[in-house]
Amino acid sequence: MSEATTSPLAAHVGKHPGEPNVMEPELIADPFTGYGALREQGPVLRGRFMDDSPVWLVTRFEEVRQVLRDQRFVNNPSSPALDCPPEDNPLTRLMEMLGLPEHLRVYLLGSILNYDAPDHTRLRRLVSRAFTARKITDLRPRVEQIADALLARLPEHAEDGVVDLVRHFAYPLPITVICELVGIPEADRPQWRTWGADLVSLDPKRLGASFPAMIEHIHQLVRERRGALTDDLLSELIRTHDDDGGRLSDVEMVTLILTLVLAGHETTAHLISNGTAALLTHPGQLRLLKDDPALLPRAVHELMRWCGPVQMTQLRYATTDVDLAGTRIRRGDAVQLILVSANFDPRHYTDPDRLDLTRHPAGHAENHVGFGHGAHYCLGATLAKQEGEVAFGKLFAHYPDLSLAVAPERLERAPLPGNWRLNALPVRLG
Ligand code: HEM
Repeated sequence: MSEATTSPLAAHVGKHPGEPNVMEPELIADPFTGYGALREQGPVLRGRFMDDSPVWLVTRFEEVRQVLRDQRFVNNPSSPALDCPPEDNPLTRLMEMLGLPEHLRVYLLGSILNYDAPDHTRLRRLVSRAFTARKITDLRPRVEQIADALLARLPEHAEDGVVDLVRHFAYPLPITVICELVGIPEADRPQWRTWGADLVSLDPKRLGASFPAMIEHIHQLVRERRGALTDDLLSELIRTHDDDGGRLSDVEMVTLILTLVLAGHETTAHLISNGTAALLTHPGQLRLLKDDPALLPRAVHELMRWCGPVQMTQLRYATTDVDLAGTRIRRGDAVQLILVSANFDPRHYTDPDRLDLTRHPAGHAENHVGFGHGAHYCLGATLAKQEGEVAFGKLFAHYPDLSLAVAPERLERAPLPGNWRLNALPVRLG
């Protein structure tokens, strides 16, 4: 890890021995070992959330899926079913600690990820129309075209023969795709890249400057687009909002756009960079893929399992006392689902540490929790998988001799809890 986290949240680390805090540097630096050890201690453990509030850590595959399917758990910490004063809920405390002004908090609380049925169902239905399997398949030629164009230009970015793939391929591909889909003008896209990085940094200074700017920018975009609606997602959401059926509030519309653009690239970029690094350090597996491109969909499943970028979910809250694998979770308790330990659970996988692109049988649904599970299962999973397939397929077709330009142990990762992301991926094109 090259940089210490600048977040004030790190101040709580170590306050409660025996109750791991997700901000602990060891867990951030090597979540595979850290959460793997916790998984072997038990399926449900006491831990601490970023703001130091108590949380149950759920570490094993079956139990993680069980909670994500269980409707006794909710996502909204202010849910009437919980009877928790807003000032006590971890999300409010987190926003306070990060210095997020009061009038902007609604935009985080109004996220689809913090909603429960029936509001969650209403929002999800509105937006999932844009992400049907058919729509995503129709997008494929355009995704391929964008990937081809970016790859053709890689040599222009080489310095001493070295290109940073994070900067010049892994980010621009999903940013371009999601911005075209939503309808974000080309000139604004570099700005979104910066905002996205600021938002995930958990650094109050960066967040405090970027978040208001981002919200204002979306309002502005909506005002402009209203005068000239098109067939993009932004226009569709504006139409839904304006037709006065009460189906989409102002805050919900802005938050949805924000969520889609950020979730649409901040994650996929790291599937592409983590996956490329994994393939370059496993030449036998890469050879299999080069010899048989039909392996790509299964390879993406395995790369999502083995080095997926999202390593834990949002918190869930118990609306009633629940017995989980012998542990009593009390009403109101917060639960954190640890996807990274679930994805390496030896109770579920044979030889889980091994990267095996043939692990997932052809034509079968994915067998990992890297995109979550249940009602909040990633809305963009089909798109992300397609982008992964196109990215890996095209990258190694254009540059069959691609190689890492630094030793694998020198690859630097961002020190962020729950996120597995490379700061840079220096490669030689061959
Ligand atoms: C939800 C991961 C790409 C939009 C989620 C969740 C995970 C996840 C784990 C569930 C979180 C929870 O239950 O607390 C990923 C990964 C991606 C990816 C690893 C890329 C490799 C995308 C893309 C989009 C997107 C491309 C948008 C086009 C969303 C949305 C939700 C979500 C809107 C919330 C769904 C809901 O609450 O019903 N994602 N995601 N994601 N994702 Fe993704």
